[in-house]
Amino acid sequence: MPLLFLLLLCLSSLPFLSLAAVPAIIVFGDSTVDTGNNNAIPTLLKSNFMPYGRDFLGKPYPTGRFSNGRLASDFYAEAFGLGPIVPAYLDPAFTINDFASAVCFASAGTGLDNATSDVLSVIPLWKEVEYFKEYQERLKAYLGEEKAKWTVNEALYIISIGTNDFVENYYSYTTTRFKEFTVDEYKDFLISLTGNFIQELYSLGARKIGFTGLCPIGCVPLERSSNFFRWGECMEERNKVARDFNSKFQELIGVLSASLPGLRLVYLPVYDFFLQLVQNPSLYGYEDVEHGCCATGFFELGYLCDQWNPFTCIDADKFVFWDAVHPTEKTSRIVANYLVNTTLSQFM
Ligand SMILES: *[C@@H]1O[C@H](CO)[C@@H](O)[C@H](O)[C@H]1NC(C)=O
Ligand SMILES: *[C@@H]1O[C@H](CO)[C@@H](O)[C@H](O)[C@H]1NC(C)=O
Repeated sequence: MPLLFLLLLCLSSLPFLSLAAVPAIIVFGDSTVDTGNNNAIPTLLKSNFMPYGRDFLGKPYPTGRFSNGRLASDFYAEAFGLGPIVPAYLDPAFTINDFASAVCFASAGTGLDNATSDVLSVIPLWKEVEYFKEYQERLKAYLGEEKAKWTVNEALYIISIGTNDFVENYYSYTTTRFKEFTVDEYKDFLISLTGNFIQELYSLGARKIGFTGLCPIGCVPLERSSNFFRWGECMEERNKVARDFNSKFQELIGVLSASLPGLRLVYLPVYDFFLQLVQNPSLYGYEDVEHGCCATGFFELGYLCDQWNPFTCIDADKFVFWDAVHPTEKTSRIVANYLVNTTLSQFM
């Protein structure tokens, strides 16, 4: 009897016992996780038209995701019991009621570097953080001060960013970065920006953070198509940049963890898994790994990937990539399952 009493006392003193392992999923980053924020801003980098979203939750719905369906972050939300999708913060169809358990501040085309978001006039990372601060105020009004604070502390944060700093900025000569930095210096610059960003999230209450490593970016169809020397093959130089960035990030984890008590920062190791998938596509039932499903698949994304294009594939599940840069929903699901099983499960 006293034991039972003690147990009940313990349970009732846990402030907000819920069945889900985390009360919310909060997402920052670029097109790999943008679930529709770019629909609300004046940029050319959009995907809220068909054939984008043609397989979305069983019925065609172009949400602004750069995919035929859902993104990896949507699958994380599902795995954590937080609903089938992560709604975009700027989407007027959703309210704080939805955002209280899942919210996305990401913007396609953005980067760690302010100069990257300027290229296509998308939301810079610092502005994503401003939206997060505004969100916290709305959450307080909705849940009350104490529960809002608890939600922010206990939430799972997912960050997926960095590719555009290389692909859209440094290597495409759209800004002056290639003159100001060697590629190694630019990597260090991006890592320092990553450190600042994570410290800022920490100071705003974030503790459980999953940072997605960079993919083998040299293997996306657009990069293969611009491989001047070995046309159609992965660009090894770009893959190496991704690997180097990833190892520097893993060093940064040690530094941040030592100085920020209670921080649980994990690296989501997507590189090797994605590379073996690209090298063994038939293991997963894919028939094409070199082209996107949409249009010719060599270079099209955004407005170039339109619903009248006669070359668009019938069955996206046979393709690793949906457009010239972004994975199909099937690929996102496979990668998300892998990361949930191997890494994110520690937050469950
Ligand atoms: C990026 O821009 C914001 C807003 O202007 C500024 O506060 C921040 O310092 C800039 N970051 C860098 C690294 O220049
Ligand atoms: C991860 O776990 C899910 C559910 O248990 C399983 O269906 C899936 O095959 C696993 N995926 C990988 C890539 O290990």
